Amino acid sequence: MRGVHFGKQRTILIRLIGMSGSLRSGSYSNAVLETLREKFAGRADLGIYDLSPIPLYNQDLEGEKRPEPVKALLHAIAESDGLVLCAPEFNHSIPGVLKNALDWASRPAFTSVMAYKPVAVMATSPGPQSGARCLEHVKVALDSMLARVVLARECIITSVAAKIRDGRLVDETSLGFACGAVEALLHEIRLWRTAEAQKR
Ligand SMILES: Cc1cc2nc3c(=O)[nH]c(=O)nc-3n(C[C@H](O)[C@H](O)[C@H](O)COP(=O)(O)O)c2cc1C
Repeated sequence: MRGVHFGKQRTILIRLIGMSGSLRSGSYSNAVLETLREKFAGRADLGIYDLSPIPLYNQDLEGEKRPEPVKALLHAIAESDGLVLCAPEFNHSIPGVLKNALDWASRPAFTSVMAYKPVAVMATSPGPQSGARCLEHVKVALDSMLARVVLARECIITSVAAKIRDGRLVDETSLGFACGAVEALLHEIRLWRTAEAQKR
């Protein structure tokens, strides 16, 4: 899968990009995003972005020198209404693949495609108590690039392996928190759209 894949319904107005930072074929975090894509189909088009073609960040390659996969990522983010990040905890922090993508997306500083972009955040962990540190670090990184982390109850999906069946999140409690975060994102997007329309 390359680039962002939106669903078939062309009438859907809210376009979201999902990113996890896991390149693993059986990724639990991607399974959560897939579940959300299905749950919100008809209200939002959640495309899950494949970050595998994104090279390591290099400050020599900014602006027009950006590699093509990076240009495509930035374009997709710019065209989207918001992001859904569902990150697995790696060494008590953000997986490098996701952080690398965010580093590219955060430039130029404070005026990047991430500035003022609404973002719903969640974290997963196979452990019974982990994930919170990853979520916190994701939020701190997003703050630095002026992204709008939407206000919602914190969504940390612990013991995630036991909550995924056939590639979908089946635990009702965790699903409730994850859906709550996306609902908050949709609400935020609608609010900003209304405010923008009133300015015209
Ligand atoms: C390098 C590395 C570091 C990890 N560090 C943590 C950690 O600090 N906390 C944790 O709960 N899980 C940790 N894990 C376990 C991952 O969260 C787990 O493998 C998870 O399933 C990966 O996400 P995915 O299922 O979306 O691919 C780590 C895994 C790897 C490969």
